[in-house]
Amino acid sequence: MNNKELIDKLNTQKALSKYEWVQLFRSFSQEDRLYAADLARHIALERFGKKVYIRGIVEFTNYCKNDCYYCGIRCSNRNAQRYRLNKEEILSCCDEGRALGFMSFVLQGGEDPRYSLEQMCDIVRAIKQHHPDCAVTLSLGELSEQAYKALYEAGADRYLLRHETADAAHYAKLHPESLTLAHRMECLRALKKIGYQTGCGMMIGSPYQTPECLAEDMLFIKAFEPHMVGVGPFLPHKDTPFKDCPPGSYETTLFVLSLIRIMLPQTLLPATTALGTVHPLGREEGIKAGANVVMPNLSPTAVRKKYMLYDNKICTGDESAQCIACLKGRLAAIGYEIVESRGDYSAVGDR
Ligand code: 5AD
Ligand code: FES
Repeated sequence: MNNKELIDKLNTQKALSKYEWVQLFRSFSQEDRLYAADLARHIALERFGKKVYIRGIVEFTNYCKNDCYYCGIRCSNRNAQRYRLNKEEILSCCDEGRALGFMSFVLQGGEDPRYSLEQMCDIVRAIKQHHPDCAVTLSLGELSEQAYKALYEAGADRYLLRHETADAAHYAKLHPESLTLAHRMECLRALKKIGYQTGCGMMIGSPYQTPECLAEDMLFIKAFEPHMVGVGPFLPHKDTPFKDCPPGSYETTLFVLSLIRIMLPQTLLPATTALGTVHPLGREEGIKAGANVVMPNLSPTAVRKKYMLYDNKICTGDESAQCIACLKGRLAAIGYEIVESRGDYSAVGDR
């Protein structure tokens, strides 16, 4: 089968074999990519119209106990200026976000044991109490099942935990021994079982990634049926072991976004900040290739430059209000608009 036939097969059967995925990632042309983007855009249009959901990210701590080789806030980066936001600061980011039309907040941080489970639950409860019509998403890394459950009971609706790569050997090349793919998968399964709308995802073009790794990612995503999938290019950070590695491909990232949209028509798919960093029109092109979410930063301007997972991250010099105005303009320029909505996952695809 040629690549276009494989993309058509994915569209009708919503699955490919490992062998077929590998072929597609090994040999796709720009024409194949644009063919997939066209299909994916139409699928997204059918489900979501020209409407894009927004989620405001509050990067509340850049302390992290982990040492992932790709990440700028890894614990052994002595050049990172560390910060933590307290409950009041987090709440005021959400208040500001609500006034700007956000109805979905993402609390994201490094794995920072300084916040106790009780404190995190208290923060979640406070956000839900101030903004009962809004959704709270957590992105706190790997925690115990009991902790996930307590946070869910405190009111958290969603959890983002990228699987990073579904190939165990590749996982081991991106992380120290203390982190394993098996444990990551356990966490993801627990999150879904508890009832979270759960997001997984991976970087495109991370060091040592092969077409086989990407094939495993697609098979995993198919089997896991996540509610959200976060995908962006790998970008090097100057203070990490991967500082000299080349960035992931913009085109491959767009292609993967389209393939995910074709495979899982209803999934929530962000055009990520990393995609907007690797190319000035990355987020717009991501939307045009099948994405339906953008996740602007709601962190206080004073800390934005400190939450540097990779070099040259966009929007780190801007106020939240500037970012949302900028994004509205960018989306309007391609004929899309932001919706003021929680943007929940819906299996039936009603709007
Ligand atoms: N380049 C791109 N994405 C990165 N992430 C972490 N470091 C980098 C990097 N150097 C992604 C990871 C993580 C998410 C929060 O950010 O996939 O899960
Ligand atoms: Fe942040 Fe454009 S979205 S400055």
